[in-house]
Amino acid sequence: MKGFYSRKLHSLLGVIPLSLFFLEHLVTNFTAVEGGTEGFYKAVAFLNGLPLVIVIEATLIWLPLFFHGVYGLYIAYQAKPNVGRYGNERNWRYTLQRISGVITFVFVIWHVWETRVQIALGNVTHEEIGGVIHDAVTNPITFAIYMISVVAASYHFANGLWSFLVSWGITVGPRAQRVSSYVCMSLFGIVSIMFIASLFAFRSIDFQVATSMIDAVKSVLI
Ligand code: HEM
Repeated sequence: MKGFYSRKLHSLLGVIPLSLFFLEHLVTNFTAVEGGTEGFYKAVAFLNGLPLVIVIEATLIWLPLFFHGVYGLYIAYQAKPNVGRYGNERNWRYTLQRISGVITFVFVIWHVWETRVQIALGNVTHEEIGGVIHDAVTNPITFAIYMISVVAASYHFANGLWSFLVSWGITVGPRAQRVSSYVCMSLFGIVSIMFIASLFAFRSIDFQVATSMIDAVKSVLI
């Protein structure tokens, strides 16, 4: 029983609210593909216009992310891959779940520092944040880091969902687990493609122009 409730809480938080946040974030970023700068800034303005946005962020994103990330690292270090018991494919997925978790953990710290923390420190505004992402994805090194990290986070999300369904007794038999595996791995493909498409959309010159226009207005005003 040792650690049973912490593990259950870790698993539950991975789906509610973190997977929901992950999907919301995916859709917000994808507005850059569908609606360009205008679509993206409209989505950002909508989210930041929500009442008590800071309370929503703290309770539905930061606290669950902190617990899930730190306890997840503890689980990853205790991991005992077991080829004999689970067979090759499951064993690989078990290992990849932990590797993708560690990559996502490191990425999220860096990414939140570059985006949300800089907004909180007043170094950049919500209206300029697309320009920050534009700079990151037009630099080959940070672009590669983004590509690897969004694929890792997408795998961690989709395979985590599959393992959540098993561990909460929702998919019990081998057939149910096989079907949910197809569904979750298809989800992995779709989500990865949507994130990668968003990264390419932020490479558009329009996002740079948006920041330069803000800089130009500022230089006239200040
Ligand atoms: C295409 C890839 C991505 C882009 C373009 C992107 C962009 C952004 C932007 C612009 C913000 C600041 C939003 C604002 O406050 O105005 C942000 C925040 C954040 N991102 Fe991402 N992101 C991407 C992928 C990810 C992934 C894969 C994760 C992993 C879960 C992630 C986790 C977060 C978190 C936790 C925050 C802080 C949320 C908040 O406090 O409101 N991002 N991202």
